[in-house]
Amino acid sequence: MCELLIDPRQNNSAIDVDRKVIIDIMNQLYAQTKNNAGELDINKLLILLLDHTMKHFYHEERILIDIGFTGIYSHQKAHNYLIEQITELMEWHENNVEQINIGRINYLYSIYGYHFMIMDEDITKFIMDFCDVDNI
Ligand SMILES: [Fe+2]
Repeated sequence: MCELLIDPRQNNSAIDVDRKVIIDIMNQLYAQTKNNAGELDINKLLILLLDHTMKHFYHEERILIDIGFTGIYSHQKAHNYLIEQITELMEWHENNVEQINIGRINYLYSIYGYHFMIMDEDITKFIMDFCDVDNI
């Protein structure tokens, strides 16, 4: 049994809004890259993506600490990996080491998808298993 600060049976609306914003930015990035948009537009989207992703992860990690999530270390590692991928892409793009291409965007999609659908699901399972949700 643990103290529940959120109810996993309800949508955590702040986190869901965060995810929708991130997916929307990713979709814009995909479209801009496909249409060979100007560098400035792509840079702006990458900055926006990094900003929203960092805020989302910060918020989620506060929740993980509050609920005593046992997998917090590996979850934070996965967050850091995603942030590194975006940062690296921004640096390479800025220094013209690598043009943004659809392959890179698809790779980011796959990491975000895995994270949101598989890794974040472990948090819900943790809460359901250890917090005796049926009895609250
Ligand atoms: Fe996460």
